[in-house]
Amino acid sequence: MILIKSDSQIEEMRKANVIVRDTLDLLRDHTREGVSTYELNRLAHEYITKQGATPSFLNYHGYPASICVSIDCEVVHGIPSKKRILQEGQIVSYDVGAVFHGWNGDAARTVGVGFIDSECQKLIDVTEQCFFEGVKAIKAGVTRLGDLGHAIQSYAESFGYGVVRELVGHGIGRDMHEQPDVPNYGNPGHGLRLTSGMTIAIEPMITMGTYRVEWMSDGWTVKTLDRKPAAHYENTVAIFDDRVEILSL
Ligand code: MF3
Ligand code: CO
Repeated sequence: MILIKSDSQIEEMRKANVIVRDTLDLLRDHTREGVSTYELNRLAHEYITKQGATPSFLNYHGYPASICVSIDCEVVHGIPSKKRILQEGQIVSYDVGAVFHGWNGDAARTVGVGFIDSECQKLIDVTEQCFFEGVKAIKAGVTRLGDLGHAIQSYAESFGYGVVRELVGHGIGRDMHEQPDVPNYGNPGHGLRLTSGMTIAIEPMITMGTYRVEWMSDGWTVKTLDRKPAAHYENTVAIFDDRVEILSL
């Protein structure tokens, strides 16, 4: 079932998403060679709880940390640890979720550690733009999920990049994952029509090589099959008749 939110519920969701956005800004500010992903997780956890919110990932289906930190060929769901220390030249994706007054926020950013090569920077920039290409395609009552996915996919593929198929965006609200699934690929004119009051997380996961991925034995970390870099960019958005509001920006 797709749960349509009222304007006041969307305002509650905005509060959760502002906390998520500010946490991501904090993580960006602490990104440098030598910092451990454990320390970044600790900083994020402390910030979220100080705002009176709860990190939604911690213990989610047994996930052992408050944020995901995915490095280079890790696409998503990398687990912070004292042994995982950032190195210059890496690209790092941070994924943060928080619940505030019962409502969820969810967003992700990819950043470079120090100086990174221009190919990696381009992957980061195109992945971010994929999200905005998706948003641009949304007209309430008109656009279907296939149109949204197609807008993202065609933009990414025009650069020769891969679009991950096995992980998708999602509806979001009182639950972090609600219906519908929101793929970053699709066929124009197909799928559910997007309407006013829907709140969805749009989260392109874009790869420099193959779009194929595999799960690591920790049960969480997802890597590209060819071990080439991947980037992730996500925001929670609310759809209105006349506009799309990005709640986590
Ligand atoms: N933010 C992720 C998503 O968009 C969820 C992270 S998985 C978790 O679906 F286990 F860490 F919560
Ligand atoms: Co998400």
